[in-house]
Amino acid sequence: MDKMRITGGTPLCGKIIIGGSKNAALPLMCASLLTDNSVVLANVPHLADITTMANLLSQHGVDVSLEGQDLRDGHIGRVLSLNAGNISNTIAPYDLVRKMRASILVLGPLLARVGEAEVSLPGGCAIGTRPVDLHIQGLEKLGAKVFVQNGYIRATANKGLTGAHIVFPKISVGATENLLLAAVLAEGKTVLENVAKEPEIGDLVNCLISMGAKIEGKGTDTLTINGVKKLMGTRHTIMPDRIEAGTYAMAAAITCGSIELIGANQEDMSSTLDNLIMAGVSVKKKNENITIEVSEGRLKSINIGTEPYPGFPTDLQAQFISLMTGAQGKSIISETIFENRFMHVPELQRMGANIDLVGGSAVVTGVSYLTGAPVMASDLRASASLVLAGLAAKGETLISRIYHLDRGYERLEEKLANVGADIERVKDET
Ligand code: UD1
Repeated sequence: MDKMRITGGTPLCGKIIIGGSKNAALPLMCASLLTDNSVVLANVPHLADITTMANLLSQHGVDVSLEGQDLRDGHIGRVLSLNAGNISNTIAPYDLVRKMRASILVLGPLLARVGEAEVSLPGGCAIGTRPVDLHIQGLEKLGAKVFVQNGYIRATANKGLTGAHIVFPKISVGATENLLLAAVLAEGKTVLENVAKEPEIGDLVNCLISMGAKIEGKGTDTLTINGVKKLMGTRHTIMPDRIEAGTYAMAAAITCGSIELIGANQEDMSSTLDNLIMAGVSVKKKNENITIEVSEGRLKSINIGTEPYPGFPTDLQAQFISLMTGAQGKSIISETIFENRFMHVPELQRMGANIDLVGGSAVVTGVSYLTGAPVMASDLRASASLVLAGLAAKGETLISRIYHLDRGYERLEEKLANVGADIERVKDET
């Protein structure tokens, strides 16, 4: 398994182009299951999770082809064409689903389009138990018969799905997307209340509307969907990745550097940018670009709690803890979305960070400097937090299990090396 070697201490300066959003791309790829025409997605990031989703859709019979690079408007991603004219298989097997929880997003569209789907239960993962009860209950309200048997969710809707009024007891990004992907082809009106408002859901709504779906309420707590009989193909450009942009913003801040994030969407990143400003980071916004800079002195410790959008994203919590390890004072960082999302803390402690875990919070007392150490990545965003710590630390950090990083950061070492980082991927020779 490859490792990442970083020698820290260099202020990072320059420009980083932000790629297309992974969390927007995955549900958008599943939207292709809803039509027998082609859905063409531009600005698709080149990531392991995208390959996993492409493999999953291919084995359902979707024809997935690469149309090249999209170099217009500053986008750097690929163009993927997906055609689900012939859905030949409705089973999503354990071997693919266990690699990526977002595989559950084929359940709603398969059920809506062909009336049946069988998807392996995703199971637990490093950041918590992550159940799928809200997905199942919602689909049952749309008239599906759902059984969980032998580790698989088996769902049928022989006469099609019918619209319903669904109030989610808890805000879930994935359940909102799955229900949206099912309701667009259900008969009649569906009202989804207490939905997630993440910008990635807005991107999905925009794409579905361009396919002919009737959806109102984008960006609010309630989505109203009037089902249609058929959807058309479309061409859609995926929104920028606000988590990738937030991670590189923190790379600039933790190294006391200056990075211009090209193509980052400021509005989607408000909570992240507001908190960086409160910690003493300079944030300058110009058109589609944001410059993040720390010119002198240590950052201030601030308290944050993760929240559903528009709150501070759980996907940037680990990186923010790294940032606070060197700040002046004490910072309390509370995780309210996932119960076990502090796997990075023991690794940061190995690098000299002063962190106490108290219930669902990390109490970080800033130290003057971190020191490089061998550390192990446990999940995608935890890996990013170790990269940030390594960039700031004195000496060499060697991060193992970096396959987690490749799930969500495209060419991370190349992007960071281009702004001056001393970072390299070390191939495992064994
Ligand atoms: C998505 C994101 C992930 C992000 C998370 C929260 C993708 C591909 N992944 O994950 O990066 O960290 O949103 O912003 O977009 N829950 C239930 N029952 C369910 C579903 C969820 O109890 O049926 C709980 C989860 O355990 C968690 C909370 O709801 O505590 C939020 O999870 P959810 O928003 O569903 O996360 P994902 O969609 O899996």
